[in-house]
Amino acid sequence: TKYWNVQNTINEEIRKHALEEAAEWIRKGETIAFPTETVYGLGANALSDTAISRIFVAKGRPSDNPLIVHIANQEQLQDVAKSIPPLAQKIIDAFWPGPITVIVPASSQLATKVTAGLDTVGVRMPSHSVALELIRLAGVPIAAPSANRSGKPSPTQADHVAHDLDGKIAGILDGGVTGVGVESTVVDTTGEHAVLLRPGGISKEQLVELLGGVDEDPALTKANETPKSPGMKYRHYAPSAPVYLVKGDKERLIDKVKAAQKEGKHVGVIATEEHASFFSGADALAVIGSRSQLSTIAHGLYTALRTMDEANVDLIYCETFTREGIGLAIMNRLMKAANGQVI
Ligand code: TXA
Ligand code: MG
Repeated sequence: TKYWNVQNTINEEIRKHALEEAAEWIRKGETIAFPTETVYGLGANALSDTAISRIFVAKGRPSDNPLIVHIANQEQLQDVAKSIPPLAQKIIDAFWPGPITVIVPASSQLATKVTAGLDTVGVRMPSHSVALELIRLAGVPIAAPSANRSGKPSPTQADHVAHDLDGKIAGILDGGVTGVGVESTVVDTTGEHAVLLRPGGISKEQLVELLGGVDEDPALTKANETPKSPGMKYRHYAPSAPVYLVKGDKERLIDKVKAAQKEGKHVGVIATEEHASFFSGADALAVIGSRSQLSTIAHGLYTALRTMDEANVDLIYCETFTREGIGLAIMNRLMKAANGQVI
């Protein structure tokens, strides 16, 4: 696996050369990990089935889980989508480039493995200079799921990608730590109403303000429903030890930690900056961000889950958050990491 540093501090010539080489490899059908504003993606040419199958192999991803296609300008939509529903165009005009994916009717030009056989495709224009430049130089739309091993937390820095996929992919473009920290919002725009399939970087409130309303995939709130977004049905984002979300105030969490330790268990705690000092007695501690700014929680979420995956603990306790704004995406990911276990 080749590694290129393309952070802003790097000389412009070197950066350009790295991006050209990576784009060349994409054209040749190889897989390249690259940063977006949400998380790192593992990219390949969306028009080539051979290229796309390499993504599934590297990630160990179930083949029934379709990929998001990334584009650098709206003209490229023609290579990806059969048509653009008015709802999709509204979202595109308001939020692209940015952390939102629209599900639209798929073009027959796309590799069939991208859509996992569905007649729709998820497409987005990321707002990250490395991602946009890579797509532009490759000259093809780039399909990219998050660049983690299937089931693991999404990578928000190049180290995470290397940890999961070194030796399994052609290259990694290191653009530093990603901004948003959770994946894009996924919205189905093929029906009469917009349907939120996965909460993410653009909040439900922002969508409601734009569209007047948005339906929610029932599977987002009911455990026994099958999600419309195939990827949402798997346990996900999960450290190896079981995660429990602890309701209520920090006193309750402190009591839970003490009780588990009394039983001889090694306990990991994921806590906010405001509360971290109360958990110095935990066997492992990850600070996730600040309660005063939910965006910092989203930003630090996957690093915290990865820290806990490395820690030698029997169980992990984590604070809970409001579902307002980006909180909906944070709680959605935490609920998956915890396999729904709220105590
Ligand atoms: O922020 C992101 O979206 C990142 C970066 C790399 O762009 N990508 C990402 O991809 O999160 P991935 O593959 O990890 O998640 C894609 C999600 C899955 O839940 C998948 O099932 C859903 O989008 N999806 C893709 N195509 C779909 C379709 N045609 N219909 C319904 N859901 C779809
Ligand atoms: Mg993913």
